[in-house]
Order: sequence, then structure tokens, then C-alpha cells
Amino acid sequence: MQNNVLTNNEIINKVVSHGKEMMWSMVEYKELRMAYNCAIKEVQTRLENLSIEFNIKHKRNPINSISSRLKRTESIVKKLTSKNLPFTLPNMEKYVNDVAGIRVICLYIDDIYLIAEALLKQDDITLLTEKDYIKNPKSNGYRSLHLLIEIPIYLAEGKKSMKVEVQIRTIAMDFWAQLEHQMKYKKAINNVSSVNQALLQCANTIADTDLKMLKIRQQIEAAEDIPTEDELLMERFRKLDIPFK
Ligand code: GTP
Ligand code: MG
Repeated sequence: MQNNVLTNNEIINKVVSHGKEMMWSMVEYKELRMAYNCAIKEVQTRLENLSIEFNIKHKRNPINSISSRLKRTESIVKKLTSKNLPFTLPNMEKYVNDVAGIRVICLYIDDIYLIAEALLKQDDITLLTEKDYIKNPKSNGYRSLHLLIEIPIYLAEGKKSMKVEVQIRTIAMDFWAQLEHQMKYKKAINNVSSVNQALLQCANTIADTDLKMLKIRQQIEAAEDIPTEDELLMERFRKLDIPFK
């Protein structure tokens, strides 16, 4: 019995060794989060550049806004636990696809596909999975294009491939998704099924309006007057002043 009791020194040694192990894992975890953050910035810059280029060429911003987030540790642990997996760094990299998340909000439906195509054309970006919830909306009415991509980042020790989840949707789809998302945090909503039904109706109205808005824009574009040579020159001058940022 007496033999199993650790001496003070032995306890201190164990604490130090556990502490060291834990500290190393924490440092590695922090570094991995930094790598995901680099990947977010990389993808965000590519998207912003595409938008600037489009604006210069076509006088219109296909992207209304971009937001991003690094998944919180608590959510990473929860996701792994829900898959019955322990919280390890390899599990996180392999099984949590949305540690790095970017949301791109476009004005029109065609902009969504234009941006997706231009991003995926970049030869160092690999498409891992694509879920088109616009062509195949979820039963609750959710619409959005989800791309899971892999992109290299360049660190001092070399190149590292990182997964990034990119969600692309219109302003209207985002408006809807934000309201629907609030439901997940409410435990006691009165008459859930009627709320769900009303949401589904709104999703359908929104989808219809998105299509109508696109058609109207296309009609306006088609009706654009043919510019005179002077007007074209003035237009070129205008383009010179479009800010790059
Ligand atoms: P997770 O839901 O992240 O576990 O992944 P999944 O494999 O089911 O992927 P999916 O592409 O279906 O969803 C990923 C993300 O899309 C979610 O984390 C949400 O941000 C968003 N999303 C998916 N479905 C819905 C929905 O019905 N409503 C809302 N508001 N957002 C959704
Ligand atoms: Mg998610």
C-alpha cells in the first residue's frame, strides 16, 4: 500500500511531464488554427480579386460582401464528439470540414455560379465536395451553394494543404438562412410547425424573387444603348479610377 504512494518529488515530476505534453498539444493546436486562418485569408483575397476584376470589366460587383469565421474550439469538440471521435488534431483535420468557413453574399443567382466557377478554375484549388442547395433546396427551404475546397498555404517550413468551406448565396437567401438559424437556439417556440411552414413559404417566395430580379437585370443589360466612340473613351477613363480595394 505504502509503495503506491508517490513522493512529493515524483508528483511534481509527473505534473511537469503532463504539463509539458499538454502544452505541446496546445501549441500545435494553436498553430493549426493559425494555418486555418491563413487559408481563410488566402481564399478571401482570391474572392476579392475576382470581384475587383469583374467590376473593372463589367461595371458591377458580383459579390456584395464576404464574411469568415474560424470554428470555435467548443464547436470543434462538439462536432467530433457527435461523430464519436476523440478531440485530436488529425481527427480535426480529417473529419471537421468547416474549421475554416467563408460566406460569400452575391446579388444575383448567376453571380453565385460565376464566382464558384472562377474560384474553382484556379489551378491550386481542389474541389473536394460540392453541395448545390440552390438546384436541390433542403426540405426546410434552405438554399446556398456549398463548396468544400482545398487550398495550399505557404508557411516557413513549407506548403500545407488546408480545407475551407465556402458558402455562396444571394442576399435574399442569406436573409432567410439567418432567420431560420435563430430557430436552432430557441427551445420553446410556440407552434413550431406553423413557423416552419411560414419559413418554407418565404424561402419559395425569395427563390421566385431572386429569379425575377435576375431576369429584370438581364433585360436592363440587354437594352443597354450602344455607346458612341466618345462615350467609350470616357468609360475607359472612368475605369482607370475604379479603386483596387
Ligand atoms: P454540418 O451541418 O456543418 O455538420 O455539415 P454538413 O455535412 O451537414 O454540411 P452542409 O453543407 O449541409 O451544411 C454546412 C453548413 O451549412 C452548416 O453548418 C450551416 O452553416 C449551413 N446550413 C446547412 N443547412 C442549413 C439550414 O437548413 N439552415 C441554415 N440556416 N443553415 C444551414
Ligand atoms: Mg457547419
